[in-house]
Amino acid sequence: MDPKINDALNGQIKEEFYSSYLYLSMAAYLESLGLKGFARWMEMQAKEELEHAMKIYKFVVDRGGRVRLFDIQQPPVEWESPLKVFEEALKHEQYITSKINGLMSLAREAGDYATEIFLQWFVTEQIEEEASVGEVVEKLTLVKDSPNGLFMIDRELGMRQ
Ligand code: FEO
Repeated sequence: MDPKINDALNGQIKEEFYSSYLYLSMAAYLESLGLKGFARWMEMQAKEELEHAMKIYKFVVDRGGRVRLFDIQQPPVEWESPLKVFEEALKHEQYITSKINGLMSLAREAGDYATEIFLQWFVTEQIEEEASVGEVVEKLTLVKDSPNGLFMIDRELGMRQ
């Protein structure tokens, strides 16, 4: 495979692992507030990111490319509030979307149809990712600091399968 695309895919593997790290750190912060439902939701998000990383890993291997694993930076540990956590998660997903779009452009320029088709799954996934995090941001914005509202959202998020 084109070395430039191989490198960029390796970079995306790192981004996905970092996403998992970030969300797990958010889950731990939410646990520290006693918000078990929020924490569970975020923990599941962290697991999904690992699956994203492995999907790309497998694709690089299947295409005869070379996987190179980069350093993963330390994520933040504390946030100001659950709302800030989800606002940051949304910003992060928007950043990931821009990375996927960049990869897509690269594959197009290189005429690498296999990578382009592979990335289509991620393009669609990002729509869902942004929408689901955005939904939580909206709910949290709506309830402001009401403990009752927070408790209700916590219960709802805890039901995520
Ligand atoms: Fe793997 Fe949430 O993007």
